[in-house]
Amino acid sequence: MKIKTKRSKRNLGLPAAMILCSLFFVAGFYSSIFFSHDAPVTKPRSRMLEVAEGDHDTMPHGVTGEASIESIPFQVLSWKPRALHFPKFATPEQCESIIKMAKSKLKPSSLALRKGETDENTKGTRTSSGTFVSGSEDETGTLHFIEKKIAKATMIPLSHGEAFNILRYEIGQKYDSHYDAFNPEEYGPQSSQRAASFLLYLSNVEEGGETVFPFENDSAVSSGFDYKQCVGLKVKPRQGDGLLFYSLFPNGTIDRTSLHGSCPVIKGEKWVATKWIRDQTWTVDD
Ligand SMILES: *[C@@H]1O[C@H](CO)[C@@H](O)[C@H](O)[C@H]1NC(C)=O
Ligand SMILES: *[C@@H]1O[C@H](CO)[C@@H](O)[C@H](O)[C@H]1NC(C)=O
Repeated sequence: MKIKTKRSKRNLGLPAAMILCSLFFVAGFYSSIFFSHDAPVTKPRSRMLEVAEGDHDTMPHGVTGEASIESIPFQVLSWKPRALHFPKFATPEQCESIIKMAKSKLKPSSLALRKGETDENTKGTRTSSGTFVSGSEDETGTLHFIEKKIAKATMIPLSHGEAFNILRYEIGQKYDSHYDAFNPEEYGPQSSQRAASFLLYLSNVEEGGETVFPFENDSAVSSGFDYKQCVGLKVKPRQGDGLLFYSLFPNGTIDRTSLHGSCPVIKGEKWVATKWIRDQTWTVDD
């Protein structure tokens, strides 16, 4: 286009060149409108990403900071509750490595019981198998790598994280909707609270097994909502994807829209690594 303009200047003189330029401008302007109309999401986005990755210089950083610029893509899924989705947060190899390590340690998952609840009368609420593994226990270093990345994505220090709860749901297995935060009215006084949860999906699930937020469906909640139903905003497990949501508001009170569950697996097997993040220091790691 540059070359063309120069040549037209020589041949046609300045006024003609200016008209040509305006024509080019108008044509470009309208085609850009049409273009963005046709593909509003993908085209401008990828262009912005290139700029973000290529054109920013690093800044001098503090002792605890980092020398490089990192990009962790995310999508806001909801503000009620505050939920973010991180596509391809981990690689397939990392996921397989975590599954392999956890497989031999699985036990039936347990529940934190409320007043009046017993193992017997809560049977069926949570039917998965699981195990707790801390980052330092995983000799491959994978879990530690993942928890450091979670700390960066949330800007909540590693020391606020519980050990990973690695879970397997087989066909028919589920977790009825519940809160990760412990309401003191039901569970008694808490010295620390679960502020956020990060779920890393370790496997694809052919059908079912979605994480569900019922409060995204107003009619489900208002019309005598059954917490065992699988209705609301459903997040489909995809190997390597991460899901982060906050159970507490910034002021520390429990966000009742953070109610969530795991829909029954219909086909396939669901593996997920959950990291609960506390409002107080939880481990000695940093
Ligand atoms: C919302 O809830 C209603 C009532 O439970 C249900 O009939 C409907 O299928 C739900 N919608 C979605 C998208 O889950
Ligand atoms: C805390 O924040 C939530 C959400 O902004 C608000 O609805 C609630 O009233 C607040 N609670 C207190 C005790 O400030």
